[in-house]
Amino acid sequence: MSRQITCTPPAGDRSYVIEIQHGSLKLQAAYLASLAPRIAIITDDVVADLYGQQLQKQLQQHKLEAHLFTFPPGEQHKTRTTKEALENQLFEKGLGRDTAVIALGGGITTDMAGFLAATYCRGLPLVMVPTSLLGMVDASIGGKTGVDVPYGKNLLGAIYQPKRVVIDPATLVSLPKREFANGMVEMIKHGLIANSEFLHYLETHVQALKNLDSEGIERAIFESCMIKKAIVEQDETEQGKRRLLNFGHTIGHALETLSTYQLAHGEAVAIGLLVESYFSMRLGLLDGASLIRIKALLQQYGLPLKLPAHYSPQAMLDAMAMDKKSTKGKPRFVVLEAIGSSAECEGHYCMAMEEKLLIDGLQWMNDDLCRH
Ligand code: GLY
Repeated sequence: MSRQITCTPPAGDRSYVIEIQHGSLKLQAAYLASLAPRIAIITDDVVADLYGQQLQKQLQQHKLEAHLFTFPPGEQHKTRTTKEALENQLFEKGLGRDTAVIALGGGITTDMAGFLAATYCRGLPLVMVPTSLLGMVDASIGGKTGVDVPYGKNLLGAIYQPKRVVIDPATLVSLPKREFANGMVEMIKHGLIANSEFLHYLETHVQALKNLDSEGIERAIFESCMIKKAIVEQDETEQGKRRLLNFGHTIGHALETLSTYQLAHGEAVAIGLLVESYFSMRLGLLDGASLIRIKALLQQYGLPLKLPAHYSPQAMLDAMAMDKKSTKGKPRFVVLEAIGSSAECEGHYCMAMEEKLLIDGLQWMNDDLCRH
């Protein structure tokens, strides 16, 4: 079954279609030909072998000039240096404004290739083709693109909307289990902040989704994309409501940094979802049964909820000082009012915690939640 969502960012005609369909990767030649005569497929070395070369051949069979550009996999390569090397390769092939970029891969690729598309010749048409679950339900939607710098993740980038997002859930068969769990965390986050029925769907279809049942996974991706698109349509540049998508990420990003990326993004955010739910509970907003329910769901999808080391509250506070929601170095957190409903916080969609509660939550994380 084919599902389509139209995402309409405010101002100007920048609507784009998110297409979700098994096998959709094979059906893009006619659309791409209408976009540009030359195509730069950007992907990492692993995804190049899995899907990149095959996509390039298929486009060439349709008489498109398709080039494949690759870089080594891993967050450590999501840098200015890699972007520059890729840009130089495009220049060496003589590619100019008559070129469209296909960002093929997980969130690292869609972020970096998207940023390249935003800046190369002042902007090339971009098609996102995410092949990881996280890329499908999060990174490829909403226009955030960027690279990491030694000062932090995604600190250089642009909001640059794609022309289309092509989601082929068949590509998930090659996704390692750990990466699948990382994507599930973002889906669970979407249910928690905005839609209790969707969260219930995730609770009642654990085996089907883990087995990549085609109807189940397409529906879950569709519902998750609908939640994200509704938020980014209202707040493209994260002045307010889009902050909700940061639920779990204030703690999660600090844990990724402190663990020097031993914790995968989703594993760190899963712990973050629980600590930030704990704050919500201690504020009297969320009931204790909901906290237990969220933890059980994350465990069912295989999230380990274990810290590689003890992280002191001070180390966590230092790591959170650069968080984009921080004011004067003090972190602010998205909070839940119930499963499926997040607090507006007078239009800020996040709030600071009293120091005692903050320290208490960070100790709870080390001593109770993640006790070995
Ligand atoms: N991944 C969070 C956002 O797109 O805003």
